[in-house]
Amino acid sequence: MARVIIVYATDYGSTKKMAEAVAEGVNSVDGAEAVLKMAEETKINDLLAADALIFGSPVHMGSMDYRMKMLIDKVCSGLWMKDALTGKVGAVFTTGSGFGNSGGGAELTQLSMLSNFAELGLLLIPLPKNTPGYAKAGSQWGPHGRSADENLKPKGLNDDQLVAARHHGANVATVALKLGGPLAFAK
Ligand SMILES: Cc1cc2nc3c(=O)[nH]c(=O)nc-3n(C[C@H](O)[C@H](O)[C@H](O)COP(=O)(O)O)c2cc1C
Repeated sequence: MARVIIVYATDYGSTKKMAEAVAEGVNSVDGAEAVLKMAEETKINDLLAADALIFGSPVHMGSMDYRMKMLIDKVCSGLWMKDALTGKVGAVFTTGSGFGNSGGGAELTQLSMLSNFAELGLLLIPLPKNTPGYAKAGSQWGPHGRSADENLKPKGLNDDQLVAARHHGANVATVALKLGGPLAFAK
């Protein structure tokens, strides 16, 4: 059994919707179980009990939501000091409304969470470019849901974004199952 915790922050529900699609992907893999948690309610033991961590954040002015950063600084930091998450699996996703075609900071937000995950010693899972939905919903770092159109008019997430999110969840679950527990790095 592989347990995958999906932690997210949300104001308007788009990141929650992406998180639920990621969870569907996890649960589509035999022997894997998804646990969904809001950042504010996530405790040390929730992270310790998981074989894989997937963090999802809305993009806020080009960087991650403060609740995700609070989780990283207040909860993950103690585990970082003890190397307690080392060898588990990690992956990320984002949502944004987008400004122009640059993604409005999606890649920076994904990379900053992945940087924290690398610090924690997690095995980082990317989003391969042949993933269904990738063309409209991805970066190589993870799926991105865009909740507004090019004029920043809210339009909600589209199917490509949710499909890419489901595949990301399935990929993470598959790796966690194959590992059968945290990888013991060479010492
Ligand atoms: C304070 C704030 C800053 C934001 N900054 C950005 C941004 O830099 N880039 C972007 O694409 N979207 C930005 N957005 C839009 C949100 O990322 C977008 O609406 C997202 O889908 C919200 O996710 P949620 O529904 O889970 O809250 C911002 C929203 C807020 C509230």
